[in-house]
Amino acid sequence: MSSSLSGKVILLTGAASGIGRGTAVKLHGLGAILAITDINEAGLAETFALCAGGSNSEHHTSHVLDVSNSANVNNRVAQVVAKYGHIDHVFNCAGVNPTSMSLIETSEAHFDKLISVNLKGMFNVTKATIPHMTAPGGSYVNVSSISGWNPDAGTAVYCATKFGVIGFSKCMALELGPKGIRVNIVAPGYIDTPTNAGIVRGTPEARQRMEQGNALGRMGTPEDIAGVSIST
Ligand code: NAI
Repeated sequence: MSSSLSGKVILLTGAASGIGRGTAVKLHGLGAILAITDINEAGLAETFALCAGGSNSEHHTSHVLDVSNSANVNNRVAQVVAKYGHIDHVFNCAGVNPTSMSLIETSEAHFDKLISVNLKGMFNVTKATIPHMTAPGGSYVNVSSISGWNPDAGTAVYCATKFGVIGFSKCMALELGPKGIRVNIVAPGYIDTPTNAGIVRGTPEARQRMEQGNALGRMGTPEDIAGVSIST
């Protein structure tokens, strides 16, 4: 996001859990001012509590926000801007992780949900925040996945959304770059987070396959991805 994040206003989606939470906690420790958002109110409260302490914490805010609902996104972003006046960085992290299923088993509802959260959600948040971004100097970090590069049987819809995130983000970079707003993509491998648990812990074989799919031979952690995200 930036070399110095102290005092920067950062909007995070998907901050109630996993990678979003890990990144919020890391950014809090660096002195950033956080607008943490998620559809999960209880998880959001837990993340907010983890970001307590330090002079920056009195400026943090938390907002229940469904990224797939553009009216909700617009309202929440307006609240954030009313409080801070601007946004320096956005961490577009909200997402629904894959459920391994064949195309024949995949329902239209599953397709619509993944597209509306993983892809349209990023569009909604991006469109609502662009007018309020610090320019030059602002930045977006958009979370794709290893599934945005490498196809995997049984995850066609998830793959489509994460390939889509990469195309969307590259176009964002071309459009926003001339304004001095950077756009970067983080594409994690297999990370041990709550919603990945269904696949990760489903069978010992599945976990072993994921561990072996990462260069380090272990599952990644939310903190690993937080470290990458804040340095881009
Ligand atoms: P997670 O389930 O722990 O966190 C995802 C968060 O997104 C949750 O707090 C959830 O409530 C929130 N969310 C879901 N639908 C939402 C909506 N409509 N509006 C707002 N928030 C919503 O999962 P994790 O693993 O931390 O995932 C974070 C991002 O990282 C996702 O985009 C995921 O696809 C991506 N990712 C995860 C990998 C993994 O192995 N865990 C690997 C590659 C990418």
